[in-house]
Amino acid sequence: MHENQSSSHSDLPLTSLAPNSRVVAAGRPARTEDAGVNTPIDLNSTYIAPGQVGYGRYGNQTWSALEEAISSLEGGETLVYASGMAAISAMLSILPKGAVIVASRNGYTGTMALLKKAQDSGMAEVRYVDIADTQEVLQEIKGAMLLWIESPTNPALEVADLPTIIAAAKSINVGVAVDNTFATPMVQQPLELGADVVIHSLTKYISGHSDVILGSISTRDSALYGRLSDVRKLAGAIPGPFECWIALRGIRTLGLRMERAQSNALELARRLESHPAIERVRYPGLPNDPHHATAASFMKGFGAVVSFEVKGGPEAADRVCQASRLVAFATSLGGVESLWERRHRWSAESPTIPTNLVRLSVGIEDVEDLWRDIDQALQMPSRE
Ligand SMILES: Cc1ncc(COP(=O)(O)O)c(C=O)c1O
Repeated sequence: MHENQSSSHSDLPLTSLAPNSRVVAAGRPARTEDAGVNTPIDLNSTYIAPGQVGYGRYGNQTWSALEEAISSLEGGETLVYASGMAAISAMLSILPKGAVIVASRNGYTGTMALLKKAQDSGMAEVRYVDIADTQEVLQEIKGAMLLWIESPTNPALEVADLPTIIAAAKSINVGVAVDNTFATPMVQQPLELGADVVIHSLTKYISGHSDVILGSISTRDSALYGRLSDVRKLAGAIPGPFECWIALRGIRTLGLRMERAQSNALELARRLESHPAIERVRYPGLPNDPHHATAASFMKGFGAVVSFEVKGGPEAADRVCQASRLVAFATSLGGVESLWERRHRWSAESPTIPTNLVRLSVGIEDVEDLWRDIDQALQMPSRE
Protein backbone atom coordinates (compact mmCIF):
# COMPACT_ATOMS: atom_id res chain seq x y z
CA MET A 1 0.00 0.00 0.00
CA HIS A 2 1.27 3.50 -0.77
CA GLU A 3 1.89 5.62 2.29
CA ASN A 4 -0.45 8.37 1.13
CA GLN A 5 -3.41 6.00 1.14
CA SER A 6 -5.75 5.69 4.09
CA SER A 7 -5.38 3.03 6.73
CA SER A 8 -7.52 0.08 5.69
CA HIS A 9 -9.75 0.18 8.76
CA SER A 10 -10.98 3.77 8.45
CA ASP A 11 -10.81 6.71 6.07
CA LEU A 12 -8.19 8.43 8.23
CA PRO A 13 -5.09 9.02 6.04
CA LEU A 14 -2.06 7.34 7.58
CA THR A 15 0.10 10.30 6.59
CA SER A 16 -1.87 12.49 9.00
CA LEU A 17 -0.56 10.32 11.84
CA ALA A 18 2.78 10.14 13.66
CA PRO A 19 4.78 6.90 13.18
CA ASN A 20 3.71 5.58 16.61
CA SER A 21 0.06 5.86 15.54
CA ARG A 22 0.59 4.68 11.96
CA VAL A 23 2.08 1.44 13.12
CA VAL A 24 -0.91 0.80 15.36
CA ALA A 25 -3.54 1.82 12.77
CA ALA A 26 -2.15 0.21 9.60
CA GLY A 27 -3.09 -3.26 8.38
CA ARG A 28 -6.48 -3.54 10.13
CA PRO A 29 -9.69 -5.01 8.65
CA ALA A 30 -12.43 -2.67 7.37
CA ARG A 31 -14.62 -1.30 10.17
CA THR A 32 -17.84 -3.13 9.39
CA GLU A 33 -20.29 -4.37 12.00
CA ASP A 34 -18.83 -7.18 14.09
CA ALA A 35 -15.60 -7.26 12.07
CA GLY A 36 -12.58 -8.19 14.14
CA VAL A 37 -10.19 -5.37 15.01
CA ASN A 38 -7.28 -7.61 14.01
CA THR A 39 -6.51 -9.18 10.65
CA PRO A 40 -7.01 -12.95 11.01
CA ILE A 41 -4.41 -15.62 10.30
CA ASP A 42 -5.31 -16.51 6.73
CA LEU A 43 -4.65 -20.26 6.58
CA ASN A 44 -5.47 -20.98 2.95
CA SER A 45 -3.41 -22.42 0.14
CA THR A 46 -6.03 -21.51 -2.47
CA TYR A 47 -8.98 -19.19 -3.03
CA ILE A 48 -12.28 -19.38 -4.92
CA ALA A 49 -11.86 -18.14 -8.50
CA PRO A 50 -12.06 -15.68 -10.09
CA GLY A 51 -10.34 -13.33 -7.68
CA GLN A 52 -7.41 -11.03 -6.93
CA VAL A 53 -5.22 -13.50 -5.04
CA GLY A 54 -5.79 -16.87 -6.71
CA TYR A 55 -3.25 -19.02 -4.90
CA GLY A 56 -1.46 -19.03 -1.55
CA ARG A 57 2.02 -18.48 -3.01
CA TYR A 58 0.81 -15.28 -4.73
CA GLY A 59 -0.81 -13.52 -1.80
CA ASN A 60 -2.34 -13.79 1.63
CA GLN A 61 -4.30 -11.22 3.65
CA THR A 62 -2.11 -11.66 6.75
CA TRP A 63 1.03 -10.92 4.68
CA SER A 64 -0.71 -7.89 3.18
CA ALA A 65 -1.61 -6.52 6.62
CA LEU A 66 2.01 -6.80 7.77
CA GLU A 67 3.23 -5.28 4.50
CA GLU A 68 0.88 -2.36 5.00
CA ALA A 69 2.16 -1.78 8.54
CA ILE A 70 5.81 -1.77 7.37
CA SER A 71 4.95 0.48 4.41
CA SER A 72 3.28 2.92 6.79
CA LEU A 73 6.69 3.43 8.42
CA GLU A 74 9.18 3.06 5.57
CA GLY A 75 7.01 4.47 2.77
CA GLY A 76 6.56 2.81 -0.61
CA GLU A 77 5.26 -0.72 -1.04
CA THR A 78 6.50 -3.75 0.87
CA LEU A 79 6.99 -7.46 0.20
CA VAL A 80 7.51 -9.83 3.11
CA TYR A 81 9.74 -12.91 2.86
CA ALA A 82 10.45 -16.09 4.77
CA SER A 83 13.58 -14.53 6.33
CA GLY A 84 15.83 -11.50 6.15
CA MET A 85 18.27 -13.59 4.09
CA ALA A 86 15.46 -14.52 1.64
CA ALA A 87 14.83 -10.78 1.14
CA ILE A 88 18.54 -10.06 0.62
CA SER A 89 18.89 -13.02 -1.79
CA ALA A 90 15.84 -11.84 -3.76
CA MET A 91 17.36 -8.38 -4.11
CA LEU A 92 20.74 -9.68 -5.28
CA SER A 93 19.08 -12.18 -7.62
CA ILE A 94 17.59 -9.45 -9.82
CA LEU A 95 20.99 -7.88 -10.60
CA PRO A 96 22.44 -8.68 -14.04
CA LYS A 97 25.51 -10.91 -14.23
CA GLY A 98 28.71 -8.97 -13.58
CA ALA A 99 26.98 -6.09 -11.77
CA VAL A 100 29.33 -3.91 -9.75
CA ILE A 101 28.21 -3.71 -6.11
CA VAL A 102 29.79 -1.35 -3.59
CA ALA A 103 29.32 -2.76 -0.09
CA SER A 104 30.49 -2.22 3.43
CA ARG A 105 33.58 -4.19 4.46
CA ASN A 106 31.83 -5.03 7.74
CA GLY A 107 28.28 -6.27 7.94
CA TYR A 108 26.03 -9.17 8.85
CA THR A 109 27.95 -12.42 8.24
CA GLY A 110 25.14 -13.89 6.08
CA THR A 111 25.11 -10.87 3.77
CA MET A 112 28.90 -10.87 3.59
CA ALA A 113 28.89 -14.59 2.68
CA LEU A 114 26.30 -14.00 -0.04
CA LEU A 115 28.31 -11.13 -1.52
CA LYS A 116 31.47 -13.26 -1.47
CA LYS A 117 29.62 -16.06 -3.22
CA ALA A 118 28.37 -13.64 -5.89
CA GLN A 119 31.94 -12.38 -6.35
CA ASP A 120 33.55 -15.84 -6.43
CA SER A 121 31.06 -17.18 -8.97
CA GLY A 122 31.49 -14.16 -11.25
CA MET A 123 27.86 -13.09 -10.76
CA ALA A 124 28.99 -9.73 -9.39
CA GLU A 125 32.07 -7.61 -8.82
CA VAL A 126 32.06 -6.41 -5.22
CA ARG A 127 34.03 -3.31 -4.17
CA TYR A 128 34.34 -3.28 -0.40
CA VAL A 129 34.50 0.07 1.40
CA ASP A 130 34.50 1.52 4.87
CA ILE A 131 30.86 2.61 4.76
CA ALA A 132 31.56 5.38 7.32
CA ASP A 133 34.29 6.85 5.09
CA THR A 134 32.16 9.05 2.87
CA GLN A 135 35.03 10.04 0.56
CA GLU A 136 35.93 6.39 -0.08
CA VAL A 137 32.28 5.54 -0.81
CA LEU A 138 31.94 8.50 -3.22
CA GLN A 139 35.08 7.40 -5.04
CA GLU A 140 34.09 3.72 -5.34
CA ILE A 141 30.46 4.18 -6.46
CA LYS A 142 31.56 5.60 -9.81
CA GLY A 143 30.41 3.16 -12.48
CA ALA A 144 28.72 0.83 -9.97
CA MET A 145 25.21 -0.58 -10.33
CA LEU A 146 24.31 -0.87 -6.64
CA LEU A 147 25.44 0.69 -3.37
CA TRP A 148 24.63 -1.80 -0.61
CA ILE A 149 24.47 -0.12 2.78
CA GLU A 150 24.07 -1.67 6.19
CA SER A 151 24.03 1.07 8.83
CA PRO A 152 24.74 0.87 11.70
CA THR A 153 26.83 -2.14 10.72
CA ASN A 154 26.57 -5.47 12.50
CA PRO A 155 28.45 -5.76 14.89
CA ALA A 156 31.00 -2.92 14.51
CA LEU A 157 28.28 -0.22 14.73
CA GLU A 158 29.79 2.01 12.06
CA VAL A 159 27.40 4.67 10.78
CA ALA A 160 27.09 5.70 7.13
CA ASP A 161 26.28 9.31 6.26
CA LEU A 162 23.09 8.21 4.52
CA PRO A 163 21.86 11.63 3.28
CA THR A 164 25.22 12.34 1.58
CA ILE A 165 26.01 8.95 0.07
CA ILE A 166 22.45 8.21 -1.08
CA ALA A 167 22.19 11.61 -2.80
CA ALA A 168 25.60 11.14 -4.43
CA ALA A 169 24.75 7.64 -5.67
CA LYS A 170 21.39 8.71 -7.08
CA SER A 171 22.96 11.70 -8.86
CA ILE A 172 25.07 9.28 -10.94
CA ASN A 173 22.31 6.64 -11.37
CA VAL A 174 23.68 4.11 -8.92
CA GLY A 175 20.93 2.08 -7.22
CA VAL A 176 20.85 2.16 -3.42
CA ALA A 177 19.73 -0.61 -1.06
CA VAL A 178 19.77 -0.10 2.71
CA ASP A 179 19.56 -2.85 5.30
CA ASN A 180 17.70 -0.93 8.01
CA THR A 181 17.50 -3.80 10.51
CA PHE A 182 19.66 -2.22 13.23
CA ALA A 183 18.19 1.30 13.09
CA THR A 184 14.53 0.49 12.32
CA PRO A 185 12.25 3.02 10.56
CA MET A 186 11.72 4.71 13.95
CA VAL A 187 15.32 5.95 13.70
CA GLN A 188 15.93 6.45 9.95
CA GLN A 189 13.83 6.17 6.80
CA PRO A 190 16.18 5.58 3.86
CA LEU A 191 13.44 5.75 1.19
CA GLU A 192 12.74 9.34 2.32
CA LEU A 193 16.42 10.05 1.69
CA GLY A 194 16.18 8.67 -1.85
CA ALA A 195 17.21 5.01 -1.45
CA ASP A 196 15.62 2.59 -3.92
CA VAL A 197 14.98 -0.23 -1.48
CA VAL A 198 14.95 -0.82 2.24
CA ILE A 199 15.51 -4.31 3.58
CA HIS A 200 14.73 -5.71 7.02
CA SER A 201 15.33 -8.80 8.96
CA LEU A 202 11.86 -8.60 10.56
CA THR A 203 13.15 -11.29 12.89
CA LYS A 204 14.72 -8.48 14.93
CA TYR A 205 13.14 -5.23 16.20
CA ILE A 206 10.08 -5.17 13.96
CA SER A 207 8.74 -8.48 15.32
CA GLY A 208 10.53 -7.77 18.58
CA HIS A 209 10.00 -10.96 20.61
CA SER A 210 12.56 -13.45 19.25
CA ASP A 211 9.81 -15.80 18.10
CA VAL A 212 9.78 -15.61 14.28
CA ILE A 213 12.15 -15.48 11.30
CA LEU A 214 10.93 -13.08 8.56
CA GLY A 215 12.23 -10.43 6.17
CA SER A 216 10.99 -7.59 3.99
CA ILE A 217 11.81 -5.29 1.09
CA SER A 218 10.16 -1.88 0.68
CA THR A 219 10.43 0.31 -2.42
CA ARG A 220 8.76 3.30 -4.05
CA ASP A 221 9.69 2.07 -7.52
CA SER A 222 6.62 0.24 -8.83
CA ALA A 223 8.54 -1.50 -11.66
CA LEU A 224 11.07 -2.83 -9.15
CA TYR A 225 8.24 -3.88 -6.85
CA GLY A 226 6.69 -5.82 -9.73
CA ARG A 227 9.96 -7.60 -10.53
CA LEU A 228 10.54 -8.51 -6.90
CA SER A 229 6.96 -9.67 -6.54
CA ASP A 230 7.41 -11.98 -9.55
CA VAL A 231 10.66 -13.34 -8.09
CA ARG A 232 8.92 -14.07 -4.78
CA LYS A 233 6.13 -15.93 -6.58
CA LEU A 234 8.56 -18.03 -8.58
CA ALA A 235 11.37 -18.56 -6.07
CA GLY A 236 8.69 -19.29 -3.49
CA ALA A 237 10.44 -17.73 -0.47
CA ILE A 238 7.07 -16.78 0.98
CA PRO A 239 6.38 -16.18 4.66
CA GLY A 240 3.96 -18.26 6.74
CA PRO A 241 0.69 -16.50 7.63
CA PHE A 242 1.09 -17.35 11.33
CA GLU A 243 4.57 -15.78 11.43
CA CYS A 244 3.18 -12.66 9.74
CA TRP A 245 0.43 -12.42 12.32
CA ILE A 246 2.98 -12.69 15.15
CA ALA A 247 5.11 -9.99 13.49
CA LEU A 248 2.06 -7.78 13.04
CA ARG A 249 1.27 -8.08 16.73
CA GLY A 250 4.89 -7.24 17.53
CA ILE A 251 5.15 -4.20 15.25
CA ARG A 252 2.29 -2.45 17.09
CA THR A 253 4.67 -1.75 19.99
CA LEU A 254 7.78 -0.98 17.90
CA GLY A 255 7.79 2.69 18.92
CA LEU A 256 7.48 1.97 22.64
CA ARG A 257 10.03 -0.84 22.56
CA MET A 258 12.58 1.22 20.64
CA GLU A 259 12.23 4.17 23.02
CA ARG A 260 12.86 2.00 26.06
CA ALA A 261 15.57 -0.19 24.52
CA GLN A 262 17.46 2.85 23.20
CA SER A 263 17.37 4.68 26.51
CA ASN A 264 18.58 1.49 28.27
CA ALA A 265 21.34 1.10 25.66
CA LEU A 266 22.62 4.66 26.15
CA GLU A 267 22.70 4.28 29.93
CA LEU A 268 24.48 0.90 29.77
CA ALA A 269 26.97 2.19 27.17
CA ARG A 270 27.84 5.12 29.47
CA ARG A 271 28.41 2.81 32.43
CA LEU A 272 30.37 0.28 30.37
CA GLU A 273 32.65 3.06 29.15
CA SER A 274 34.08 3.60 32.61
CA HIS A 275 34.11 -0.08 33.65
CA PRO A 276 37.62 -1.35 34.45
CA ALA A 277 37.00 -4.72 32.69
CA ILE A 278 36.25 -3.04 29.35
CA GLU A 279 38.78 -1.98 26.72
CA ARG A 280 36.46 -0.15 24.34
CA VAL A 281 32.73 0.53 23.94
CA ARG A 282 31.11 1.09 20.56
CA TYR A 283 27.79 2.91 20.62
CA PRO A 284 26.97 5.84 18.29
CA GLY A 285 25.02 7.51 21.10
CA LEU A 286 28.20 8.12 23.14
CA PRO A 287 29.52 11.66 22.45
CA ASN A 288 33.09 10.42 21.95
CA ASP A 289 32.16 7.52 19.66
CA PRO A 290 33.74 8.11 16.21
CA HIS A 291 30.28 7.81 14.59
CA HIS A 292 28.38 10.06 17.00
CA ALA A 293 28.49 13.25 14.94
CA THR A 294 27.27 11.50 11.75
CA ALA A 295 24.53 9.63 13.61
CA ALA A 296 23.36 12.76 15.45
CA SER A 297 23.19 14.71 12.18
CA PHE A 298 20.25 12.72 10.74
CA MET A 299 19.23 9.72 12.87
CA LYS A 300 16.35 10.03 15.33
CA GLY A 301 18.09 7.78 17.85
CA PHE A 302 21.16 5.58 18.10
CA GLY A 303 19.69 2.09 18.11
CA ALA A 304 19.79 -0.42 20.93
CA VAL A 305 22.84 -2.56 20.17
CA VAL A 306 26.04 -1.87 22.12
CA SER A 307 29.31 -3.63 21.25
CA PHE A 308 32.25 -3.73 23.64
CA GLU A 309 35.67 -5.31 23.88
CA VAL A 310 36.55 -7.15 27.08
CA LYS A 311 40.03 -6.91 28.66
CA GLY A 312 41.73 -10.32 28.77
CA GLY A 313 40.91 -11.45 25.22
CA PRO A 314 38.37 -13.92 23.81
CA GLU A 315 38.47 -16.30 26.81
CA ALA A 316 37.59 -13.45 29.18
CA ALA A 317 34.81 -12.31 26.83
CA ASP A 318 33.40 -15.87 26.71
CA ARG A 319 33.42 -16.09 30.50
CA VAL A 320 31.50 -12.80 30.72
CA CYS A 321 28.83 -14.01 28.30
CA GLN A 322 28.39 -17.25 30.22
CA ALA A 323 28.17 -15.51 33.60
CA SER A 324 25.00 -13.49 33.03
CA ARG A 325 21.73 -14.47 34.64
CA LEU A 326 19.30 -11.91 33.22
CA VAL A 327 20.97 -11.17 29.86
CA ALA A 328 20.70 -14.37 27.80
CA PHE A 329 23.81 -15.81 26.14
CA ALA A 330 22.39 -16.16 22.61
CA THR A 331 22.83 -14.81 19.12
CA SER A 332 20.39 -12.39 17.41
CA LEU A 333 19.06 -9.04 18.50
CA GLY A 334 16.01 -6.81 18.60
CA GLY A 335 13.86 -8.71 21.09
CA VAL A 336 12.33 -7.42 24.32
CA GLU A 337 14.88 -9.55 26.19
CA SER A 338 18.56 -8.58 26.32
CA LEU A 339 20.98 -10.97 24.58
CA TRP A 340 24.73 -11.04 24.20
CA GLU A 341 27.45 -13.13 22.62
CA ARG A 342 31.09 -12.93 21.60
CA ARG A 343 30.77 -12.60 17.86
CA HIS A 344 33.88 -14.60 17.03
CA ARG A 345 32.33 -17.74 18.51
CA TRP A 346 31.04 -17.96 14.91
CA SER A 347 33.79 -18.91 12.48
CA ALA A 348 32.08 -16.81 9.78
CA GLU A 349 32.68 -13.54 11.66
CA SER A 350 34.98 -11.16 9.81
CA PRO A 351 38.68 -10.93 10.79
CA THR A 352 38.18 -7.14 10.98
CA ILE A 353 36.03 -7.65 14.10
CA PRO A 354 38.09 -7.94 17.33
CA THR A 355 38.05 -11.45 18.81
CA ASN A 356 37.09 -10.08 22.26
CA LEU A 357 34.09 -8.10 20.95
CA VAL A 358 30.76 -8.82 22.65
CA ARG A 359 27.57 -7.69 20.95
CA LEU A 360 24.86 -6.77 23.44
CA SER A 361 21.29 -6.41 22.18
CA VAL A 362 19.65 -4.29 24.84
CA GLY A 363 16.07 -5.17 25.69
CA ILE A 364 13.35 -3.40 27.62
CA GLU A 365 14.05 -4.76 31.11
CA ASP A 366 14.64 -2.41 34.04
CA VAL A 367 18.01 -0.78 33.41
CA GLU A 368 19.20 -1.22 37.00
CA ASP A 369 18.51 -4.98 36.85
CA LEU A 370 20.43 -5.14 33.58
CA TRP A 371 23.37 -3.22 35.00
CA ARG A 372 23.57 -5.37 38.14
CA ASP A 373 23.68 -8.47 35.94
CA ILE A 374 26.23 -7.06 33.49
CA ASP A 375 28.42 -5.71 36.27
CA GLN A 376 28.48 -9.05 38.12
CA ALA A 377 29.28 -10.89 34.86
CA LEU A 378 32.14 -8.47 34.18
CA GLN A 379 33.72 -9.36 37.52
CA MET A 380 34.31 -12.88 36.17
CA PRO A 381 37.53 -12.39 34.15
CA SER A 382 39.49 -10.90 37.05
CA ARG A 383 38.37 -13.69 39.40
CA GLU A 384 39.97 -16.39 37.25
C1 LIG B 1 21.65 -6.66 9.71
C2 LIG B 1 21.05 -7.98 9.39
N1 LIG B 1 20.51 -8.19 8.18
C3 LIG B 1 19.97 -9.38 7.83
C4 LIG B 1 19.97 -10.44 8.71
C5 LIG B 1 19.39 -11.77 8.27
O1 LIG B 1 18.11 -11.92 8.79
P1 LIG B 1 17.38 -13.34 9.05
O2 LIG B 1 18.13 -14.01 10.16
O3 LIG B 1 16.00 -12.92 9.39
O4 LIG B 1 17.46 -14.11 7.79
C6 LIG B 1 20.51 -10.28 9.99
C7 LIG B 1 20.51 -11.40 10.94
O5 LIG B 1 21.08 -11.32 12.01
C8 LIG B 1 21.07 -9.01 10.33
O6 LIG B 1 21.63 -8.80 11.53
